[in-house]
Amino acid sequence: MRKVLSSRSIKVAVFAWCLVPLGLLVWRAFHHHLTANPIEYITHQTGDWTIIFIVITLAVTPARKLLRLPELIRFRRMLGLFAFSYGFLHFSTWIGLDKFFDWAEMLHDVRKRPFITAGFTGFALMIPLAVTSTAGWIRRLGGKRWLTLHRLIYVTAVAGVVHYYWLVKSDVRKPLFYGALVALLLALRVGLWLFARRGKPAPDRPLERKLTTAETVRLAR
Ligand code: HEM
Repeated sequence: MRKVLSSRSIKVAVFAWCLVPLGLLVWRAFHHHLTANPIEYITHQTGDWTIIFIVITLAVTPARKLLRLPELIRFRRMLGLFAFSYGFLHFSTWIGLDKFFDWAEMLHDVRKRPFITAGFTGFALMIPLAVTSTAGWIRRLGGKRWLTLHRLIYVTAVAGVVHYYWLVKSDVRKPLFYGALVALLLALRVGLWLFARRGKPAPDRPLERKLTTAETVRLAR
């Protein structure tokens, strides 16, 4: 398993899988299958995939620790950048196709419509994470500060769930489902942190401790 996760081909395969939702959207656009309301369809698809990628990205660290598979971290940056990219498409659809670049109306929406305020906050917080996702930025900030900054992903996740919850009119099952996943992943983090504080892991069990800056840089490549 660890050998597979370390291979280049699995990274390429995961990358290709991440492109599938976009590919399907493009395919549907070319075949006029974007439903009677294409803007709404694109907004909903890209919104769904943004929250899905955020949750998958959040799951990487707990999975790495619980399954003792440090190689999983190789996928975290890629998954996070896909979350950002789908978020960018989602936001761009709203700007260009929904609002036709009417900046005054957009500003009004961001200030007056709570679900837009929450979505906007979530997306805005992803920008520094995407910018500092490179190995150079990990080194420049140092592992500890970089990790602290990247905890913003939890705020983004909560904002994304709130955004979803506030925008649905009646059936709140899906936003509640994502909310439960985010809560579970947060609780796992806290649990693992408390567990790690109880005793120093032996040096020969590096999988159970936090990664150093150099390890993060090396594995994030
Ligand atoms: C972390 C950032 C965000 C996440 C995770 C997110 C997620 C979602 C999700 C899951 C949906 C519903 C999809 C469905 O019903 O299947 C949605 C809808 C929507 N989002 Fe976002 N979103 C984010 C940011 C934004 C931003 C920045 C804007 C615009 C400023 C925005 C505008 C909208 C709109 C207009 C809808 C459709 C609302 C409706 O149908 O009434 N979102 N978003």
